[in-house]
Amino acid sequence: MPQKETHAAEDSNDLKPGSGILNKAFLSDVLEGLHHPQKTLPSKYFYDDKGSELFRSIMALPEYYLTRAEMDIFRNKTTELIATLSLDKSKDYNLVELGPGDGTKTEHLLKELLAQGYTYDYLPIDISQHALNGLVNMLAETVPALTVKPLQGDYFIKLGTIRSDQRPKVVLVLGSNIGNLSDQEAAAFIDQLSANLNPGDKILLGVDLVKPQAIVLPAYSDAQGVTAAFNLNLLDRINRELGGNFDRSQFEHLATYEESEGVARSYLVSKTEQTVTIYGQAFHFDAGESIHMEISRKYNDTVINEILSNTGIHIQSRIMDSRQFFADYVLVRS
Ligand code: TRP
Repeated sequence: MPQKETHAAEDSNDLKPGSGILNKAFLSDVLEGLHHPQKTLPSKYFYDDKGSELFRSIMALPEYYLTRAEMDIFRNKTTELIATLSLDKSKDYNLVELGPGDGTKTEHLLKELLAQGYTYDYLPIDISQHALNGLVNMLAETVPALTVKPLQGDYFIKLGTIRSDQRPKVVLVLGSNIGNLSDQEAAAFIDQLSANLNPGDKILLGVDLVKPQAIVLPAYSDAQGVTAAFNLNLLDRINRELGGNFDRSQFEHLATYEESEGVARSYLVSKTEQTVTIYGQAFHFDAGESIHMEISRKYNDTVINEILSNTGIHIQSRIMDSRQFFADYVLVRS
């Protein structure tokens, strides 16, 4: 899934050009994206400290229904969710989660599984050790009986390391994070996931559902401008870390969504004709020219089945929130 970038302090990809540290991958990704005819910036770099804080604010926005919708499933339909997973109580499971965040949704599932007598270990995988530490501390308080085995690093590398453990797995991939990938990338992601699973292993895939523009579009263009600030923050980050000279007041946020296509898109649009320089390279913008920032795919069974074709994974069942905005699909590896 939109696996966030490796944290600078945790990777070896840094250049030191005299002053400060320059992240080489960040630089080459940014320059590459801005050379495309449709300029684009890599969304995995949204999440610096400020970006992560803005993202938490997005999740609390009145217009941003996704987090609350999936929370409705985990908090209010926990029993139904567990029934939908259809697990075997006589087995010991590894419950893996890719990118658990603060774990507030998962916590409900973890508690109820224990209450119903399922035996399992919880293995959250995240690129950020900081996020894992917070999660481990939270769960030690709220679900003390749980065995937590945090794994820091790349999702697939870490899944590979637990593959030989013959316990059946359930892998949680929540938050419609897969929606930030193109369908082709999503298929490649599921394929790679499939390659690290054993027959019978399950995936719980949380996805936002296709629905009218009047509901979806405001979630990506909120009235308070938090989503705009979240996108513009990447320009600030480029200025700070890559020596760019973006003037954020000369760009405005634009979101688009058509129900017939089912894809929300975010852009930053240049208000004027201007030239921006990054690490000595000049990029020209026409007035009205856009930088594509991110997509957010919306799903239904047809889209999911299309993505799953040729991955060895199929749909077992799904559960929706009470407003039918969001679904968690139970997928099985054959
Ligand atoms: N994957 C979620 C979504 O597409 C969260 C998210 C990622 C998001 N990037 C975002 C939400 C940018 C708003 C704006 O909705």
